[in-house]
Amino acid sequence: MRFFIDTANLDQIKEAKDLGILDGVTTNPSLMAKEGIKGKRNIKNHYAKIAELADGGDVSAEVISTDFEGMKKEAHEFAKIAPNIVIKVPMIKDGVKTLRYLSDNGIKTNCTLIFSAGQALLAAKAGASYISPFIGRIDDITWDGIGLINQIAEMYAVQMFDTEILAASIRNSNHIVQAAIAGADIVTCPLSPILGLLKHPLTDIGLEKFLADHRKGNK
Ligand code: E4P
Repeated sequence: MRFFIDTANLDQIKEAKDLGILDGVTTNPSLMAKEGIKGKRNIKNHYAKIAELADGGDVSAEVISTDFEGMKKEAHEFAKIAPNIVIKVPMIKDGVKTLRYLSDNGIKTNCTLIFSAGQALLAAKAGASYISPFIGRIDDITWDGIGLINQIAEMYAVQMFDTEILAASIRNSNHIVQAAIAGADIVTCPLSPILGLLKHPLTDIGLEKFLADHRKGNK
């Protein structure tokens, strides 16, 4: 399974990269706004920095238009920034049309705001490279986010779709493990749930004992 980091924060991206586990980056308009990145030119410059840091790993840049012509124009502008830019398109009617257009023109896409297997089916049919089911937001309303990943993984396997499942809206480390078991190809999340995978009290106790025994034996 590949690990993407879900942030527009350059320090967090660097930290994940230094850990040696970074395969790509996803952003969205909320994450860009959180970093204070405003205006077309600044947004494009920031994507260029992220794309460089990602070292060839895919970087999702989300369009803000909701009509086909607008999405198409934004997509071409973003695609010029770097070869590893992937166009993130919302799951709406004109978004589906945009997925098909971009796929036919050799531009990679990530269909975002996926909350059902039906939406995942339509996005795959339109040629999406990735789909982003939002696990956390589904769990937030007491539905089953991981159950949706299971369903989509089974459907894509039966139908032999190439579209990859990018589990998004990850709230904790267990979501990462469960998404891996359910058949997600990639998870995207902030750095903290990734670092949470490191933690186990028996690891800390065990290491402390090894080091104490070493000190005793080397007095
Ligand atoms: C990623 O592509 C999504 O935009 C993101 O994971 C959404 O996460 P949130 O539900 O925590 O905002």
